[in-house]
Formats: sequence, structure tokens, C-alpha cells
Amino acid sequence: MVAPRLKVTVLISGRGSNLGALIDACATSNFPAEIVRVISNETNAGGLVKAAKAGIPTAAVPHHNYPDRRSFEADLDKEIRAAGTQLIALAGSMRLLTEAFVDKWRNRLINIHPSLLPSFKGLHTHKRAIEAGVRFSGCTVHFVRPAMDEGPIIVQAAVPILSGDDATSLEARVLTQEHLIYPLALQLIGEGKVLVKGERAIVNENSEQLPGAMINPAIPMV
Ligand code: GRF
Repeated sequence: MVAPRLKVTVLISGRGSNLGALIDACATSNFPAEIVRVISNETNAGGLVKAAKAGIPTAAVPHHNYPDRRSFEADLDKEIRAAGTQLIALAGSMRLLTEAFVDKWRNRLINIHPSLLPSFKGLHTHKRAIEAGVRFSGCTVHFVRPAMDEGPIIVQAAVPILSGDDATSLEARVLTQEHLIYPLALQLIGEGKVLVKGERAIVNENSEQLPGAMINPAIPMV
């Protein structure tokens, strides 16, 4: 018998390149998750078109039609539940969610952020990382907590920051990794390999052994 796939709703606000990566992953055979609905708070989000092309039901819940966050989230929650959702994946969703909403979906709500959390929470991460002079940046998939960009970390990818980088070149390097680690995180959760203990996500996966350290600038070979 084929195991049931994890039902995922993806929340977006924009172009949806991470959504695209998740759609592609879900289309591969034996992937343990499926996208049951894509919801945007922006009616003209490019990601909605991407989802529709892939045959995924979409909905727009425009936040500016609501007098407050509570009523917006009540409708959002209705849409999410109507699809039989088991996990929500935020993929460039630009609405901050209330504590009540986040608590309702505790450990069933994940996000991708374009920095190595807990560094550089919030916006303009690439510009701020370059200005801070750090040698590495990257991206993080984590469970969502009420405080912005906080919560147990599931997967991270690190990339070097090079001397010629600006925010655009760094964003592109990080985004390539986002498209790898978001599907990976979804796969690990779908396979039941991620457990939240206290405020840490424990990943039960043998491939955690990585080769040595990454050093930037690289040590010159003699
Ligand atoms: C990504 O950089 C993601 O990390 C952040 O918002 C951006 C969304 O991009 N949360 P896209 O819509 O997935 O292309």
C-alpha cells in the first residue's frame, strides 16, 4: 500500500520561486508530500499563476479587505482547513501572523528565510550581511514561532560572501540553495524524520555527516 502523502498548503505573496521548487519536488515519484492549495494575500502574485499551471487549487485572501488581522486570519484558516491541510509552508508570505494563529499551527507551520538564522532576521538580509562583513550567509528552513524569524531550525545551507558581491549577486547565490533546502525540509518532515524537542528540531537522518569545515577566504594551497 502507498503511504498517504503529507497535505501541504503554501502561503505566498509574490513571484513564488520557492513554491516552484516545492511543486517540482512534489511531482517526483515517491515524494512524501503534496501541495493541496496555494493561498496568496496579494491577488496578483505570480506564484498563483505558477500553481494554477501545475493544476493546484489556488485562493486569494487579500489582507486589505479585512478590518484587522484576526478577521483576515479567520478566513485564511478556513481556506487552509478546507483543503485538509496538515502542514503550512510559508514561501515568501509577507504577512506577519498573530500569536494565536501560530500557536494553533504549532510545529505544523514552516518558513524559509534568506539568512543563517538567528543572524539577520527581518528584511534586507543580503545587504545587511554584506555590510556586517560576515564571510558566510545562507538560508534557513524553520518551524514558525510568534516572534519573527524564530523557531526550531530544520535545515540550513551556507554560501560564501565574495568580495565582489552586492545584494543582488548574494541573493541569487542564496536563492539557488533555498530551492534545494525547502524541498529537502519538506521531504524530511513528510518522512517523519523531524522531531521537535524543546525548542530544537532533531533530524533523524544519516546523511548529516559533512566533510570538514568551509573556510572563506579559502586557505591557499602550498
Ligand atoms: C525568499 O528569499 C524567501 O527566503 C523569503 O522570501 C523570498 C521569496 O521568494 N522568505 P520567492 O517568492 O519564493 O521567489
